[in-house]
Amino acid sequence: MDNWETLKKECAACQGCGLGRTRHNLVFGVGDQKADVMFIGEGPGEQEDLKGEPFVGPAGQLLDTMLEIINLDRTKVYIANIVKCRPPRNRDPLPDEQTACMGWLRRQIALVDPKMFVFLGRIAAMAFIKPDFRITREHGQIFTVEGRPAMALYHPSALLRDPGKRPETFVDLKQLQREIQKLL
Ligand code: URA
Repeated sequence: MDNWETLKKECAACQGCGLGRTRHNLVFGVGDQKADVMFIGEGPGEQEDLKGEPFVGPAGQLLDTMLEIINLDRTKVYIANIVKCRPPRNRDPLPDEQTACMGWLRRQIALVDPKMFVFLGRIAAMAFIKPDFRITREHGQIFTVEGRPAMALYHPSALLRDPGKRPETFVDLKQLQREIQKLL
């Protein structure tokens, strides 16, 4: 039977890809270990790498605002990333790095056993929903992932780069709130 302590310890010792050699800290995950909703991002940035916590830099501040819009905060959901170590210069995690790290996330998912997934950005949506996921066309739609409802949102970093996408994300968040209410 898996447990959080063993999982985190094993994950911290992982050398499954090269990212473990360049990171400062493992960015394992944060939040309610029994959350109804699990948010999955891409990989740690500079601030996350320094602090060892997901979404604490500028994108994280925007994620906190997005959660507030739907009356949630990071203590009520579980937040993790596809890769747990920072890719150098914030590049996208490579397919091999994603594959090497996926087992840890799968074990986190099994322990949290969420009722719903929210994928932050294209990389996470492609890994879980479908490889040809198109974030510009398919954000805000409900898919089924491992028997549970799942939605992808624009990544908060994309919303920082292009604030013109924020009104669409507001609509998606309201839809997400309705989906969550259906599950409770
Ligand atoms: N972007 C992500 O995808 N994850 C983080 O933890 C921070 C920024």
